[in-house]
Amino acid sequence: MTATKNLTSIAEIYKTDKLDHGYTAVYEKYFQNIRDQKLQILEIGIADGKSLLMWSDYFKNSTIIGIDIHKIDIQEKKLERSNIKVHRGSQSDEKFINKLINQYGNFDIIIDDGSHLKKDVIKSFHLLFPHLNNDGLYVVEDIQTSYNHFFGGNPFDLKYSDSHMNFFKHLTDRLNYQEIANPFYISRMYDAKITNISFYHNLVFVRKGVNDKLSKEVLNHSYEDMKFNEKSSRLGKSTRYYFKYKVFYKIYTFFFMILSMLKRLLLLRF
Ligand SMILES: C[S@@+](CC[C@H](N)C(=O)[O-])C[C@H]1O[C@@H](n2cnc3c(N)ncnc32)[C@H](O)[C@@H]1O
Repeated sequence: MTATKNLTSIAEIYKTDKLDHGYTAVYEKYFQNIRDQKLQILEIGIADGKSLLMWSDYFKNSTIIGIDIHKIDIQEKKLERSNIKVHRGSQSDEKFINKLINQYGNFDIIIDDGSHLKKDVIKSFHLLFPHLNNDGLYVVEDIQTSYNHFFGGNPFDLKYSDSHMNFFKHLTDRLNYQEIANPFYISRMYDAKITNISFYHNLVFVRKGVNDKLSKEVLNHSYEDMKFNEKSSRLGKSTRYYFKYKVFYKIYTFFFMILSMLKRLLLLRF
């Protein structure tokens, strides 16, 4: 009986390398309060099926869906369990992923332990994140491949490369998108849809949720407009504040924007 065992003890039984990486202790913090719920869990990358067996024991009431680009012999890997489903296909194959979504609907937890290549990690995030339930978790394992050019990473340009780690680092700006004081701001795909991003050693967690609380600092991405409204409604003198915030401050913002754009252009940062 493994029902009352914690995740690390179950991982020890199946000898999944999630234990050696130190992932199970982190997972336990996220999953211990939801382990009895009826969830839909998708794991990309099956290999010997060790992690599927671990999740199957841990999340007794859930459905564990595993996908792998290679054929998995479910008899040989002892994956013939009622709460385990196995499918063959690539994590970045849009047709295959859409078929999976049509069959199962949304997921509560998605774990990417597949190819760990930049192109696959980012593409499957784009394909699958829209099909994660609110409050659901998208986890990417082995993000250390971002620092390895053989996996599409870049160990020589940690700050500006288009590695998958940088993709997730930049995603953190979506948490605070309401405060971006750029009056020309164009809304982005994941604005208002992420409530938390946590980075651990080689591991990233993205929590989906509604994040549309209006900013207290800026109004429609304009600090000037917020200040004008606030001051003129509180103190009157709207002509004076109009010139201060809607003319002078706006001109300053515009010049600052042009300067930043020129700098990016000169440094070839697009
Ligand atoms: C690290 S192993 C998975 C280990 C397993 N999750 C565990 O913890 O026991 C990675 C697996 O991803 C699979 N894989 C590689 N590229 C893939 C892709 N594009 N789509 C889906 N699976 C892929 C490999 O065939 C391999 O079985």
